[in-house]
Amino acid sequence: MAFETILTEAKDGIGVITFNRPKALNALNAQMIGEMGRALDAFEADDNVHVIVLTGSEKAFAAGADIKEMADKSFNDAYMGDFISGPWDRIDSCHKPVIAAVSGFALGGGCEMAMMCDLIIASDTAKFGQPEITLGIVPGIGGTQRLTRAVGKAKAMDMVLTGRMMGAEEAERSGLVARVVPADQLMDEVMTMAATMATFSRSTMKMAKESVRRAFETTLSEGVRYERRLFHACFATYDQKEGMKAFIEKRKPKFENR
Ligand code: CAA
Repeated sequence: MAFETILTEAKDGIGVITFNRPKALNALNAQMIGEMGRALDAFEADDNVHVIVLTGSEKAFAAGADIKEMADKSFNDAYMGDFISGPWDRIDSCHKPVIAAVSGFALGGGCEMAMMCDLIIASDTAKFGQPEITLGIVPGIGGTQRLTRAVGKAKAMDMVLTGRMMGAEEAERSGLVARVVPADQLMDEVMTMAATMATFSRSTMKMAKESVRRAFETTLSEGVRYERRLFHACFATYDQKEGMKAFIEKRKPKFENR
């Protein structure tokens, strides 16, 4: 598939999408989001891809939605065109795990894209922020919701109401990112992590991901009930039999995603 604003590569069970508008610090325009959506569709449909990685450049994961592209939009354009929906939300509906590998700026829509992924691994140069307030707007792809769930009200209000950036260390301390690594080791670390995940049962991984995500959508008792049903369902799979048998026989399991 030929793209102009992203790069894609699929190897050893891992599909990588790299934002590639370096002159605009990977500002997210309609073309790039459309291409990202199509690349995600292709990776989701590809049985050889088990894990997806979304990344940018060393200087910027993405510096937000493209301000130049949206500056002249009217209310009617935004409202009737349902601006910031469709492929903008595509990551959220992925069944395969998506890791955000973030270096440099992850601002506005860039921070929101990263938060839509299942987990964020950040380089020590990463800077997260929701600076929309400085532009006279509010976040538009879930920033106020996902940031608040990730870091709590105090930090979310601090960031959304002042537009300040949060460095990698603070982001890890606050629960926004899973791990922080030196910038020159970011992709190695993420690919090693993705390679481990790619060895596991894809169907079990889908259940595990769905169950964790359910925690953000429902009450504790409903979430625990949902988890338990998935846990029960695992016993109907070949992979549960294989995983436990392999443990008992002291060998590596060979999962078949069934
Ligand atoms: N949209 C369009 N272009 C952008 C951009 C954006 N979000 N961010 C950076 N660029 C462009 C700049 O205009 C500049 O282009 P030119 O060379 O043609 O002038 C180029 O990228 C390099 O940027 P800077 O010269 O500003 O680089 P810097 O290192 O001095 O500053 C920065 C970096 C702090 C990230 C700064 O570029 C910046 O503040 N960018 C805007 C960040 C922002 O406000 N993001 C939120 C956007 S709104 C949004 O995302 C809404 C939503 O919820 C979906």
